[in-house]
Amino acid sequence: MKNILVTGGLGFIGSHTVVELQASGYRVIVVDDLSNSTVDVLENIEKISGIKPDFHQLDLRNKSDVQQLFATTSIDGIIHFAAFKAVGESVHKPLEYYENNIGSLVYILQEMVKHNIKNFIFSSSCTVYGQAETLPITELEKTKPALSPYGNTKQVGEEIIIDACNAHQLNAISLRYFNPIGAHDSIHIGELPLGVPQNLIPYITQTAIGLRDELSIFGNDYDTKDGTAVRDYIHVVDLAKAHIAALTRLVNKENTENYEYYNVGTGTGLSVLEIVESFERVTEQKLNYTIVERRKGDVTAAFADNTLVTSKLKWQPEKSLDDALRSAWEWQKKNT
Ligand code: UD1
Repeated sequence: MKNILVTGGLGFIGSHTVVELQASGYRVIVVDDLSNSTVDVLENIEKISGIKPDFHQLDLRNKSDVQQLFATTSIDGIIHFAAFKAVGESVHKPLEYYENNIGSLVYILQEMVKHNIKNFIFSSSCTVYGQAETLPITELEKTKPALSPYGNTKQVGEEIIIDACNAHQLNAISLRYFNPIGAHDSIHIGELPLGVPQNLIPYITQTAIGLRDELSIFGNDYDTKDGTAVRDYIHVVDLAKAHIAALTRLVNKENTENYEYYNVGTGTGLSVLEIVESFERVTEQKLNYTIVERRKGDVTAAFADNTLVTSKLKWQPEKSLDDALRSAWEWQKKNT
């Protein structure tokens, strides 16, 4: 049985990935500093899979703790989620973002080299493309200078991994996520935003349940079908499964390059208004919303061409937007 270290394994995408790893027969070691998650997630993972993963509460900025972890744990591969991810906050706290997102990445790669661990999966983002020249976005699309320190940590993170792969014969895959949404079918795990949600779906569900007065839709003067911005919303369980596909490719030595990167999205672009309408239809809730000005840093449209990931990783999205919105709503009701 392969031992997989999952950093940030109690977070939104991390927890869903832990469950899928367990279902695929991997043994999981979770590291999380609980800065944006709670330890209850561990029990909720166990409710789904029947297996409680090994857990270390650990801050990856602490180099000696990272060294200690690797010295005492047998690890065959790493899926690295742990990172700060609030775009707006990163503008005000850039150095904290660089210290956390870049510092911890470097420490982990150093320990991989030291302990001869070869397989690494990195959480990247479609944000590396900025406003793409061509839609849908393929992996041939040029990356753009990042619009935020957060985005820059993803770009620089990828570059650091490329250098480490070349110098130290590591194998790595970056998954460039589009917009992950939804919750596990069991409704035991989901997204738990701290404070006021920045992302669309948690803001919608919190508005529908009465925690927020109304949703602000950021701009209706974009050059899109209805003027609101377009994104590619992917069910978090599908996204989690893409990690298993990527890891399995490395474990089975099926990768053709030592560094590969894939867009992970559904391939369908939907506007904010389409999301609102679908949410209202699926949940039979009326949503209060108002149109406000554009949010700084938002792109007009981003959706994936997922040809590469479907062919190379033999992965494809299985769940619908309605599944995702329904589960997000059930999760909100359970947690309010
Ligand atoms: C952003 C980041 C992405 C990051 C993700 C993680 C960019 C370009 N994208 O995605 O890299 O991985 O957050 O959190 O930096 N919207 C509203 N009202 C709201 C919230 C959102 O209208 O209250 C709209 C946004 O303008 C956007 C869409 O909904 O058009 C999706 O927004 P969001 O969920 O925040 O994701 P992104 O900005 O696409």
